[in-house]
Amino acid sequence: MSEVNLLDRYPRSRRPIAQREASVPRERDVAKRFGREYFDGERTQGYGGYRYDGRWVPIAERFRDYYALTAGDRVLDVGCAKGFLLHDLRGVVPDLRVSGLDISAYALDNALTDVRPSCVRGTADVLPYPDDSFDLVISINTIHNLDLARCKQALREMSRVSRKHAYLQVDSWLTDEQHANFERWQLTAVTYFDPEGWRRVFAEVGYSGDYYWTITE
Ligand SMILES: C[S@@+](CC[C@H](N)C(=O)[O-])C[C@H]1O[C@@H](n2cnc3c(N)ncnc32)[C@H](O)[C@@H]1O
Repeated sequence: MSEVNLLDRYPRSRRPIAQREASVPRERDVAKRFGREYFDGERTQGYGGYRYDGRWVPIAERFRDYYALTAGDRVLDVGCAKGFLLHDLRGVVPDLRVSGLDISAYALDNALTDVRPSCVRGTADVLPYPDDSFDLVISINTIHNLDLARCKQALREMSRVSRKHAYLQVDSWLTDEQHANFERWQLTAVTYFDPEGWRRVFAEVGYSGDYYWTITE
């Protein structure tokens, strides 16, 4: 288990926090449906346009190198949305076998066509795969959207279906300012802690995969 930021090559952007803050209470219910508004509506409602632009390629390379992924390995992305990371993993590891799961029918209907057939609709706390199915299970910015009991179950599920590696990214903060920014910005998260709090949850459920934090700056 390591604290390691495998998204360190994800483009950093200053978020328009003040602009979104005023509409946060109004937009939370809409965002939590994870429908068109969340992905491709206004920035106040979520992503403000979740489109493929290749930004996951360097991250896919980072996963390939860190976990020494090779042809034939199986990778699951829990909360795969439109399948961008899975698509790019296939691009950088020939013959990788990828699977995705997401709760959003909208995201899956609009997933990239090469990965769509390997993605299913479902919830992170009930993974429809046998034990030890995957060499790597990834979940980025997804399980903090479940209440604490289900979030813990999602962590157990990641461990159950992985036969080797797991990588998790969840909302957290390192400073008081980042914590305040997070509270002003976030729309959908319901379970969140500082790093110490998350590590206590990991220990309680026996999650032994790698992890890092999504920090609101
Ligand atoms: C912030 S997005 C992250 C998407 C992608 N992992 C990324 O990093 O770009 C959160 C994703 O979690 C999905 N999601 C929310 N609740 C979920 C659940 N209970 N089970 C599976 N996916 C869920 C949403 O539909 C959405 O695709």
